[in-house]
Amino acid sequence: MISDLKGKHFLSCDFWTKPELDIAFDTAFDLKEKFKNETPTRYLQDKTLFMIFFEQSTRTRNSMEAGMTQLGGHAHDLTADKMQISHGEAPKDTAIILSRMGHGIASRNCFYGVGSEYLKEMAAYSKKPVMSLQDDIYHPFQGLADLMTIFEHFGKNTKGLKVTVSWAYADTHSKPLSVPQTQILLFPRYGIDVTVAHPKEFPLTKSIVDKALKNAEEGGGSLKFTNNMDEAFEGAQIVIPKNWGGFGYYGVNEYLSNEDACKKEMKSNLEKYKSWICDEKRIKLADKNVKLMHALPADRGHEVTDEILDNPEISIVFDEAENRLHTAKSIMALTM
Ligand code: CP
Repeated sequence: MISDLKGKHFLSCDFWTKPELDIAFDTAFDLKEKFKNETPTRYLQDKTLFMIFFEQSTRTRNSMEAGMTQLGGHAHDLTADKMQISHGEAPKDTAIILSRMGHGIASRNCFYGVGSEYLKEMAAYSKKPVMSLQDDIYHPFQGLADLMTIFEHFGKNTKGLKVTVSWAYADTHSKPLSVPQTQILLFPRYGIDVTVAHPKEFPLTKSIVDKALKNAEEGGGSLKFTNNMDEAFEGAQIVIPKNWGGFGYYGVNEYLSNEDACKKEMKSNLEKYKSWICDEKRIKLADKNVKLMHALPADRGHEVTDEILDNPEISIVFDEAENRLHTAKSIMALTM
């Protein structure tokens, strides 16, 4: 595949222009069709992608690895603990070396105040494209799959579509801010009206919110905030109930210098909001044709009830998850 995007890093959808993103969507739709028809798409024959995971993953890891195989190449599934990274090797050195051995580097590093900087440093020194598989600020592949799924269910003219991104209770782990932040940055660029609901102790990062408001102004969408989950569900055409940690309540330096105390406070704040769940009662507040989206994994019974998540009239979460494959292949095929 010959592309003007060859060599371009993919660290955030926000670092790609709308025409560039539109090429990525067109390519993803084409690849999805070819996947269904079993048409070969060996655009990356004999090419190598190095994937470095600092955290667990199901969708991201497998969409990238399966994607590389389907594109005719190979992905190394690496974890930081198996590499010299665990002995302190610098991201700069890791990037220079891997970029001389293969054709792309991708990494997931969600440590708050660390992950995005780590990826930026790799990108600064890699001669090959560097892709974020999620960091503490952005989850660009998720954003692409989300919007592709919205296009499939609501059409490509998304002007005025009402999407609610709501914090929800979960007791699994403190999830990064990167999914809702990617959504608020991206959706309003496509004319979507986004409402974000969260308890006051679980804000998103101020600089990202400021940028998202600017994107909304330029893209013809809108972005508003509330601390009331019911209010945010009223009339929504898509609801995305998802937990995120209370990282945005602290500055990065404040968090990193008092990590244990902040984690303890986050945990006690979390327990105040067990009622923040997407259930039948809340779904009834939304538009009658409302769709449920979620990046997954979902914390069933906490973020969303089984009744809603498993309702095929409402839930499009598995379309969204499948689209991780097609969007992953699109970005790899265009950039590598
Ligand atoms: N949505 C998502 O990124 O899933 P994984 O954590 O399983 O990769």
